[in-house]
Amino acid sequence: MVCLGNICRSPLAEGIMREKIKKHNLHWIVDSAGTSNWHQGEHPDKRSIANASEHGIDISTLHSRPFIKEDFKKFDLIFVMDESNYSDVLAQASCDADANKIHKILAFADMINTNVPDPYAGGQHGFELVYQMLDEACDVVLEKLINVQAALN
Ligand code: 4NP
Repeated sequence: MVCLGNICRSPLAEGIMREKIKKHNLHWIVDSAGTSNWHQGEHPDKRSIANASEHGIDISTLHSRPFIKEDFKKFDLIFVMDESNYSDVLAQASCDADANKIHKILAFADMINTNVPDPYAGGQHGFELVYQMLDEACDVVLEKLINVQAALN
């Protein structure tokens, strides 16, 4: 899960997805990163932590880190939050196989709005909107990936 700062949207996406994966008894690895290193080492934004907590998810121990080229090797899929994250991650791709791993999460989930809005400059309400979008998207992503896995087995 990738956004700009790795303190607002992508830590929420990581927490939401991790929770759903756990509920499905799956053992998939989820992580998050930022296209910038502006907040490297910091915990998620207080408003993201509070929002996740309202939904029974603890993201308070996560730390921001920048997205690195190695992530293309380590992960099968890279979900970005908006168009600008998409171009920033794409710029680090070394081959088509890397590039093909990158998806805007809302587009992958067939949602009408394909950008998760950056809530950093707004109030708490923006974080709930992000949560609702990501919660819906993660359900669809999970369902799609479970179907893919079933078809491969
Ligand atoms: P995020 O939000 O990309 O969802 O983590 C932001 C966090 C910090 C900044 C911008 C967006 N910033 O400008 O520092």
